[in-house]
Parts: sequence; structure tokens; C-alpha cells
Amino acid sequence: MEKLKTLFKSKADALAGEIKDIIKEHGTKKIGEVQLAQIYQGMRGITGMVYETSLLDAQDGIRFRGHAIADLQKKLPHADGGHEPLPEGIFYLMLTGELPTKADVAELSKDWAARAQNTPAHVFKAIDALPINTHPMTQYVVGVMALQTESIFAKKYAAGVNKKDYWSIMFDDSMNLIARLPVIAAYVYKRKYKGGGTVSVDPALDWSANFAKMIGYDKPGFTDLMRLYFTIHADHEGGNVSAHTTHLVGSALSDAYLSYAAGMNGLAGPLHGLANQEVIKWIFEMQKSLGSEQPTGEQIAAYVQKTLSEGKVVPGYGHAVLRKTDPRFTAQQEFAKKYMPNDPLVQTVWKIYETVPPILQSLGKIKNPWPNVDAHSGALLTHYGMKDYEYYTVLFGVSRALGVLAALCWSRALGFPLERPKSVTTENVKAWLKGVDTIWD
Ligand SMILES: CC(C)(COP(=O)(O)OP(=O)(O)OC[C@H]1O[C@@H](n2cnc3c(N)ncnc32)[C@H](O)[C@@H]1OP(=O)(O)O)[C@@H](O)C(=O)NCCC(=O)NCCS
Repeated sequence: MEKLKTLFKSKADALAGEIKDIIKEHGTKKIGEVQLAQIYQGMRGITGMVYETSLLDAQDGIRFRGHAIADLQKKLPHADGGHEPLPEGIFYLMLTGELPTKADVAELSKDWAARAQNTPAHVFKAIDALPINTHPMTQYVVGVMALQTESIFAKKYAAGVNKKDYWSIMFDDSMNLIARLPVIAAYVYKRKYKGGGTVSVDPALDWSANFAKMIGYDKPGFTDLMRLYFTIHADHEGGNVSAHTTHLVGSALSDAYLSYAAGMNGLAGPLHGLANQEVIKWIFEMQKSLGSEQPTGEQIAAYVQKTLSEGKVVPGYGHAVLRKTDPRFTAQQEFAKKYMPNDPLVQTVWKIYETVPPILQSLGKIKNPWPNVDAHSGALLTHYGMKDYEYYTVLFGVSRALGVLAALCWSRALGFPLERPKSVTTENVKAWLKGVDTIWD
């Protein structure tokens, strides 16, 4: 992987030079202003960090280095016989800003398969020590934390390392970690749902095909779904909980394993990545409660009202930044239209899409009534037989590694400092409102 590493370093050096000049010339310019409501309400809309790998537009959705998902489905290399982009390609793009060739991507597949060999036995033992009913995300994070023994950065930092070399070690740690995540994820799946068993990587297969094979779902349709899934979930700019947590923890010079594991604990929250399991659980419960596999629009509307009246959110709908249907939802809908248009669960997801937005809109308080990425994924997985919905967030997590670790390589290469925003107390706020001098005036 020396070629990719050298390319990354040349891009990073060039940008570091530009950033130095930007800060020197324009460092005192103001970007927006912060309103009191924003600091009480989750810092929405406050621009507070630089994150190079992708950018989210409220109307158009995510762009990876300027490319929309629909374009990337055509522009990124596919596997021989495959119809969806290989996620190796989106990692290459996020890391370098350049679209990879088929050969670049093939090299990455081969490299990751080689790095995934011989995952230390204690990683599996750590997972095995957990009760079987432990949530798959917890098992996954425990596996990642156990793998932290392999961090090159942790060892080199303890021995003493020049800060100029941090980026190189972060690159190596990130590549090793990404390579082994499908192994940990597959082990958790087999342990929890298939009575256990060993997992091993086939050096001839790409990252997604290896994962699909390890969990025992190696039909071409599912493998292609994994390639699409791992591509579209990879990144969503820097402010979302998993990306921001990884970035924040990484800013303390925590290594790739510690930082990514922290991000995954955020992804495991129901308002973030866990929403993908919540969606399918909510649909299954609705079907059960209505006694119908394919409820009508009226029945769905009544069930939505029931959910809202119980003080719960409708999972898979709404977003902190997006104000339109998530293009990641659309990409999955297109996949379903192509391969499973008559699947009853898929049709129910589409019926929910017709029914939910006007109801949420009518409440007048929800800023985005449209579906997000999590509203569709469970129906696709269920179509191929994967109904174990508690596992779905692990799939999201495997994919998210590509974005957050590419971003961490950039943070190290650009020498980003410790992140430390200011907080205040409501006492401060009340004093400030009365015109009393406060610490931030
Ligand atoms: C994603 C989410 C957390 C964004 O939160 P947000 O930025 O605070 O969203 P809003 O500003 O639109 O929220 C305003 C109000 O609408 C509510 N709301 C937002 N989405 C809702 C939904 N899908 N169902 C019911 N209520 C919702 C909020 O809970 C909030 O209510 P409150 O004022 O009583 O506290 C929120 O839309 C949500 O909980 N969605 C469901 C979970 C989900 O799908 N998460 C995955 C996101 S990719």
C-alpha cells in the first residue's frame, strides 16, 4: 500500500500548506454567529470543525469529495460480475480526493484481505466472555477494544515518536483495523445467531464479499447489497455523533482503535445508527398489531399516530441536517425496485414513505419529515433472509469505519489539535442576560 500512502501524504502536504496560508491571511474572519438557542439545542448549525472526506447539503444530501451517491454508483469500480461500487473505492476517494481505477481498488481488496489474516485469538475470547444475549453492537465494540493491543501508535508513542510521523502510523493502524472489522463483525454474527464457529478471510475476495461469505450469505444479490450498503453508510460529514466522537476522541491522540470504538458507542444510540434496527422492529410490531403483512395507508397512519401519542419517535424519519429525502434512502429504493419490487416488506416501506411525511409535517415542529438512510435498509436485509435486526447497526458500523478513519488520517496529517470547545452554565447565561460581565464577554 506504499503507493496509496505516498499519494495520501502528497495530497496532505499540499493541503497543509494551503491551510497554513488560509489561517495566516484569513484566520480572523468570522463564520456565522452563535445564538443562545443553539448552545442549548445540540449545537445545530454551528460550524465548528473541518472534515475533509465528505460534505452534507441539507437539500442535496451527502457528497463524497464532491460526488453524489448516484454518480458514484457509476464512477467507482465494480467487482467482476458485480453491479454496485466496491466500498474500497469510496475509501480511496475519501482518503485521496481522487477516483480510483479498478486496479487501485483491486490492490486495496488484496491488501485488506492480507492484513485480516491471523486476527489474535484473544479478540474472539474477549467476545466469548460476554453473555450471548449481549447486544451485537456491544460485542462488536468489545472485539474492537480487544484488538487495540495491535495498535502500532500506542506502542510507538510509549517508546517515543516524532509528531511528524503520527500520520503514517495512523494510516497503518487504520488500514489494519478496517481490514479486520469484517472478521470481528462476522464472528459476532455467527456467535449470536448461528451457534458460533470460526471465521477466515479468503485472499481472493473483496472486503464485502469476504464479509458476506463469512456470515454465510454469499448469494450474489446479498454480496452486491453489502457493497452498496458499505459504500453509502461510510460517511456523512463530520458533525454526526459517530464521526464527531471519533474525531473528538482522536484529537486526544487516542489511537485508531480507541477512537473508532468510541464512535461506535455513539452509533449504537437509537437516534443515530440504532435507528436501522428500530425501523424494522417498529414495522414488525405494526404488522403484528394490525394482523396484516401489508397494512393499508390508513392503517399505517393510525399506527403512526399511536406511536406519536405514546411519546415515541417514528424511526427512520427526520434528520438533524437534511431537509429532503435522504439520497441514501433513494439508492436503496432503486436497488429494491431493480431486484425485489414485489417484496411485501419493501412495499410496506414504500407505503410508509407515502404516509408518514404528511403526518409529521402536520405536527408543525419537525424540521424534516422525510426518510433517512435507516428507513429502508432493514427491508433489503430481510429480503435476503437476515431478519436478526439487532445486528443491523453492526453493518452500519463496519461501513462507517471507512469515513471516520480516513478522516482521522487527515486530522493527523494536518496536525489538528486537541478539540476543546467552551461550555457555560445557565448561571452564566442568566447573568449575561442581565448585562452582568461574564467570562465569554
Ligand atoms: C434524527 C433526529 C434525532 C433529528 O433530531 P432533531 O434535529 O432534534 O430534529 P427536529 O429539530 O426536527 O426535532 C424537533 C421535534 O420533532 C421531533 N421529531 C423529529 N423527528 C421525529 C420523528 N421521526 N418522529 C417523531 N418526532 C420527531 C423531535 O423529537 C423534536 O421533538 P421535541 O421538540 O418534542 O423534543 C430525529 O428526527 C429523530 O429522532 N428521528 C428518528 C430517529 C432516526 O431515524 N434516527 C436516525 C437519523 S439518521
